[in-house]
Amino acid sequence: MANDTLTITDNRTGKSYEIPIEYGTNPLRSTYIRASELRQIKASDDDFGLLSYDPSFVNTASSKSEVTLVDGIAGVLHYRGYPIEQLAERSTYLETAYLLLNGELPTPSQLESWVSEVTIHTLLNERNKTFIEGFHYDAHPMGMLVGTVGALSTFYPGAKDIYDVESREKQIVRLIAKMPTIAAFTYRHNRGLPYVMPDNELSYTGNFLKMMFRITEPKYTPDPVLERALDVLFILHADHGQNCSSSTMRLIGSSDADPFSALAGAAAALYGPLHGGANEKVLRMLETIGSIDNIPDYIERVKKGDFRLMGFGHRVYKNYDPRARIIKKTAEEVFGVTGRNPLIDIALELERIALEDEYFVKRKLFPNVDFYSGIIYQAMGLPTALFPVLFAVARTSGWLAQWQEMLDDEEQKIWRPRQVYTGTEMREYVPLDKRG
Ligand code: CMC
Repeated sequence: MANDTLTITDNRTGKSYEIPIEYGTNPLRSTYIRASELRQIKASDDDFGLLSYDPSFVNTASSKSEVTLVDGIAGVLHYRGYPIEQLAERSTYLETAYLLLNGELPTPSQLESWVSEVTIHTLLNERNKTFIEGFHYDAHPMGMLVGTVGALSTFYPGAKDIYDVESREKQIVRLIAKMPTIAAFTYRHNRGLPYVMPDNELSYTGNFLKMMFRITEPKYTPDPVLERALDVLFILHADHGQNCSSSTMRLIGSSDADPFSALAGAAAALYGPLHGGANEKVLRMLETIGSIDNIPDYIERVKKGDFRLMGFGHRVYKNYDPRARIIKKTAEEVFGVTGRNPLIDIALELERIALEDEYFVKRKLFPNVDFYSGIIYQAMGLPTALFPVLFAVARTSGWLAQWQEMLDDEEQKIWRPRQVYTGTEMREYVPLDKRG
């Protein structure tokens, strides 16, 4: 466009500045100026220049990304251009992970070797088991996951060679392969059950179900409906643009830290109840509500500000989260095998009442991915505390795709936000005997 600039007049000095306006793929959703352009705006020669102040990054793009499109106004989610609905219907988690990491869907032979690479890296070093055994019997599985993934960096010192493409690919395979094993081991540790070794004959999610649930059966065969449902849930959770945990992955990775350490940090960011920990909180909330009759009172308390409706609202989605729609459908399929989880009826009614209520309508608050996922996990027999861990297993491919993209982006360097200092001006040190 001819006049793609922004003219800013600084009324302190009367000077005008012309700043270029740039665009991402969709000009209606990704028009931007470079914040560093503001630095030329100075009130005097020794002025540092204008900063943009944006607590919590509500209007700041940290990265250019080709991985995932989240159009929160239209309620659309694409991975590398493919709509989430098509991937959930037709892809598998490992194929989707390949897509996120490489930008294209794999050919049949690429898929075969990718799946085989991941499958043969699922084992954990025996010392990892000893490490997990050091946790208290009732340790939260997410805490164990964060610690164990971080500890993995000590087993693979070559992971520090982040600009060596071969080494980087190896760590990516290791992380995607070993996360389900760590997740299952945390569960077995909590239950005091022996660890079940990975089974190379099974699919990614089939193997995970076996490592979780096998007791003494000589041959454990995962239920195909549950195996597929878990695969769909993993696809839905695989990436979501510059969310809190992916941004943490990029932030830690920007200091050239190894991917195991960066991913431990990303998982820690995910653990919070406002992010991936919300699925656990939703379940506990639905159990607290207990019956449909109690919903109106609960909603009133949310509106009064006593607490938030967990699983509702999103920084980006101001429309229905497309993942929640797919999860609702998957739930019915799972209930066909497991029997209906009665919490679904409370959730459906809660959603119906909330979506008609002025408070939620005005603020554009819709159910997000976490609202229904826990109900399915619970029906499958997965313990509530493990829900954020399942989110982390699935998000691993997204974190790694975001990390890799950052390393290859020549505009990126160590992340170091500015601050607006509001503290005291310089003052003289007061000796201890002269104070108060
Ligand atoms: N229940 C009640 N009110 C809410 C909720 C909620 N869940 N979420 C937002 N609001 C209100 C909030 O009080 C504010 O109202 P007002 O303008 O009167 O002050 C308004 O809506 C805007 O909220 P915000 O806090 O400025 O929005 P945000 O973009 O900072 O927060 C959020 C996004 C996801 C943290 C928030 O919606 C929330 O706390 N939701 C519940 C936790 C949750 O479900 N998290 C999972 C997010 S999706 C998956 C993931 O990212 O992991």
